Amino acid sequence: MADNIASGDDASRGEHDPVTGRSTTGHDWDGLKELNTPLPKWWFWTFVATVVWGIGYAVVYPSVPWINSYYPGLIGYSQRATVTADVQKLATQRAEVMTKLNAVPLAEVKQDDALYAVAMAAGRLAFAENCQACHGAGGQGRPGFPALAGDAWIWGGSLDAIRQTVTYGIRSPHPDARISQMPRFGADAILTPAEIGQVTDFVMTLYDPAAPAGAGAADGAKVFEENCAACHGEKGEGMREVGAPALRSSVHLYGDTREAVRAQIATPKQGVMPNWNTRLDEATIRAVTLYVHGLGGGE
Ligand code: HEC
Ligand code: HEC
Repeated sequence: MADNIASGDDASRGEHDPVTGRSTTGHDWDGLKELNTPLPKWWFWTFVATVVWGIGYAVVYPSVPWINSYYPGLIGYSQRATVTADVQKLATQRAEVMTKLNAVPLAEVKQDDALYAVAMAAGRLAFAENCQACHGAGGQGRPGFPALAGDAWIWGGSLDAIRQTVTYGIRSPHPDARISQMPRFGADAILTPAEIGQVTDFVMTLYDPAAPAGAGAADGAKVFEENCAACHGEKGEGMREVGAPALRSSVHLYGDTREAVRAQIATPKQGVMPNWNTRLDEATIRAVTLYVHGLGGGE
């Protein structure tokens, strides 16, 4: 086979090719002769340099795998060890600050710039992980989930009120949860459908005093005084002790249409906010409380 493809003989080696002036290798394929073209010097030396570099690298850094471990290299470099050390350092730093956060009264944290900055960073993170899904990214809220960035609070916007809400929740299974229940005026037949229509008309005048009042508003005022004022206040200003939202307001948990108001009176929704004391540690609850308080509506 070799004869068919390449027949070289020493005699033809070193022959000069008249066109290029180069010598040939002596290989001859049916009359075609192969020129002897050496690798360029720069190429050859670059290749040698990479081999030398490769061997050096393998000696200095971890390289050869063994069965249960590996050759660690002369300088014993390990990315895992570096990361572990960094994480440990961070944890110690964080633990120090978080312990301090637990020791300082919430109202005084703001006076310590460094502590406040770390608390806000931790709070922002905890909020994104645990609260944002319900309350929105900036705490802007959505139907059924109150805004935390505004100044309309159902249960209270002071540091202590927020901390209590976050710790024990609202209508959560925790025994210290904030609990209150708006009666089911329609479903339990406490009011007649006519009375519900009237009080709905009246509530709409609280929601939007500028809009023309519905036909039942005047009678509805009386129904309100007898059935609703105990929780929502004489003037519909709301009552935090029982988590009854202000009705004389432009901010509403369950929407501001007549239909939404009527539905709430007939068969009230009762919002549930989880208790976080079993899921977040004390310092994180404090941090997220400070963060929520700082969203803009804190009292
Ligand atoms: C599963 C949904 C859900 C999650 C998650 C959630 N909340 Fe709530 N939260 C609610 C609901 C619903 C209410 C309103 C309860 C009501 O109707 O009184 C509420 C109420 C509140 C209130 C009281 C607002 C007021 O006006 O008084 C605060 C403060 C609050 N949440 C903070 C948080 C924080 C901080 C987190 C994260 C640690 C969080 N929430 C996570 C559903 C949620
Ligand atoms: C026992 C206290 C209580 C009484 C009495 C009561 N409510 Fe409520 N009401 C609440 C609570 C608590 C909520 C908030 C429910 C929630 O957070 O999920 C509420 C919510 C509402 C809402 C929704 C507010 C919003 O922001 O979307 C309306 C409207 C309302 N009540 C109207 C009435 C009317 C009208 C009456 C009387 C016929 C009445 N309530 C009687 C406790 C009460």
